[in-house]
Amino acid sequence: MPIDQARMQNKIGAAFDFAGRQLGQLIETYPDYFPMYTIGGKWKHGGEAWTNWCEGFLGGQLWLMFRHTGDPYWRAKAEHYSRLIEHRKTDRDVHDLGFLFWSTWRRWYEVTRDPHSNQVVVEAGQTLSLRFKERGQYLRSFVADESLFIDIMMNVGIIFYAAQQTGDRELLRKATRHCLTTRRYLVRGDGSTSHEGIFNTETGEFLRQTTHQGWRDDSSWARGLSWALYGFGTVYSFTRDARFLATAEACAAFYMENTPPHGVPPNDWAEPNPALPYESSAAAIAASGLLDLAKLAGDATRGRRYHDYALQILDTLTEPAFLAVETPGWEGILKHGMYHQRRGLGVDESVMWGEYFFLEALSKVLGYE
Ligand code: GLY
Repeated sequence: MPIDQARMQNKIGAAFDFAGRQLGQLIETYPDYFPMYTIGGKWKHGGEAWTNWCEGFLGGQLWLMFRHTGDPYWRAKAEHYSRLIEHRKTDRDVHDLGFLFWSTWRRWYEVTRDPHSNQVVVEAGQTLSLRFKERGQYLRSFVADESLFIDIMMNVGIIFYAAQQTGDRELLRKATRHCLTTRRYLVRGDGSTSHEGIFNTETGEFLRQTTHQGWRDDSSWARGLSWALYGFGTVYSFTRDARFLATAEACAAFYMENTPPHGVPPNDWAEPNPALPYESSAAAIAASGLLDLAKLAGDATRGRRYHDYALQILDTLTEPAFLAVETPGWEGILKHGMYHQRRGLGVDESVMWGEYFFLEALSKVLGYE
């Protein structure tokens, strides 16, 4: 049944109000702290990070709050938290510079059109491109030279952007080859995705599909699939290469065919009777990606389907079962996210990227982007 528009607008308004309260509390209680996932609903703890990829999501949420409210408080905080990560534009240790800078300095640039903000984004894209392996034709993950992650599809957009801004054709070549390699080896015929591909670093030969955060090497980790759905759509918007749109749509079809009608998948669709049935961050990412695909898809019927499915996800996520609005003492916005089940990190908790992509998706429904 189609979602009632007026009811949805009210729910989104209430979700933003709640998000503002939670974020205000977070930054006033723990100034200059970059949380990643909660433990028992609390942001501040000494839990392991595994890798440092989340430092843009707090600033990003603050930019989204500024966009929604126009309140200078949020802008000042957004600028502050963006400045705190500027030095990461030369970080060679992670594959996540798109996550860090598209959510923060790119949003800053959209507000001001100030050349320095743009230059920070371009430099981050140039740095990310240095991970490119000629043997194998991919951007290596943070784990090892031999490793390609599906997650990098969410970051490669910043290299296309840097290529566009500078006219550097090498950047364009590397970004395009990375996407074609990912499409060939990590996206399967049914639209499902593998988390990781392993290559022979001497010859560039692809060896096998593996996983870190999914159930099995041959299964589909839900967040990885959401990264692919969203990332290939973004790459299509940069390149207009129909292969990338087809890949994004294949991932969207797999997501919609395999997820219960409420729209929230488990951590991995192959896990039999999961004790924890939800990975809310994968749903938030999928909602945001589907709202983009709704505009990018050439076909009006499919576009409508992506739009309606995204609204279904957001309708579910704005209910108190997911929105922590009726959970006293919970410091996050969205419950039932999952970071790394195997390592026991952020299991059934709030996660920073879940919060960010949830607010981004709500912003898209309101027509801000
Ligand atoms: N990029 C890490 C994750 O999605 O958990």
